[in-house]
Amino acid sequence: MDKDIIIPNHIGIIMDGNGRWAQERGQIRTMGHKKAVSTLKDLCIHMADIGVKYVSLYAFSTENFKRDIKEVDFLMKLFINTFNKEFDFIKKRHVKVIFSGRRDPLPEGVLKAMDALVDETKNNDKLVLNICLNYGSHAEIVDMTKKVCSLYKSGKIDLNDIDEEFIQRNLYNDLPPLDFVIRTSGEYRLSNFMMYQASYAEFYFPKIYFPDFTVEEFDKAILEFNKRNRRFGGVK
Ligand code: FPP
Repeated sequence: MDKDIIIPNHIGIIMDGNGRWAQERGQIRTMGHKKAVSTLKDLCIHMADIGVKYVSLYAFSTENFKRDIKEVDFLMKLFINTFNKEFDFIKKRHVKVIFSGRRDPLPEGVLKAMDALVDETKNNDKLVLNICLNYGSHAEIVDMTKKVCSLYKSGKIDLNDIDEEFIQRNLYNDLPPLDFVIRTSGEYRLSNFMMYQASYAEFYFPKIYFPDFTVEEFDKAILEFNKRNRRFGGVK
């Protein structure tokens, strides 16, 4: 990639269209999720190599538990398998993995695989990979509010301590604002993904299902980001 290109500091990816990708090939939906893992691996390696600092991935929303139990079970097993066996690139590239979302009601096996990955990568200092799993912005704001109220109730904070940075620090993870949000599959929605963090993000909606969102397509997205005129509410 050209050295004058600006790489967004924090990129969010809503990995949509796995089911449709499979169905259009006459396959069952879960085959799309399986293919998505290999697409994701290539993308993560690429993002680490070009120097992206933070990536947030929408892997499973709080609402995704409403899906057919067979698909939910498949995804939970896929997460375990991926975290245990497919994330070998992470060590080589010094990627630090963190998770955002509610632990309950994730199965024990998933929690174990998540905790092991966090522990193994906690000292890595390159790309921070934030995996949103059983995540929803509404739930995150509810959980943050409860945390802040209990700090206030126990006298640990004063009302004047609450400002925008304080709110950011008390979300699931203290992450910088999202600069760029990519949602594949041609849907134009945020679907409860990182609303607080995305307030000034640029959005990109390629009409490609996530399993086909290759490194080349990602690079096209970065070129599009470079054409945007970001004003953050001011004049430029
Ligand atoms: C949305 O596509 C995708 C999901 C709900 C699952 C995302 C999971 C992966 C990409 C698997 C790998 C992820 C990690 C972090 C290991 P969809 O099923 O809603 O597609 P559709 O809109 O075509 O139905």
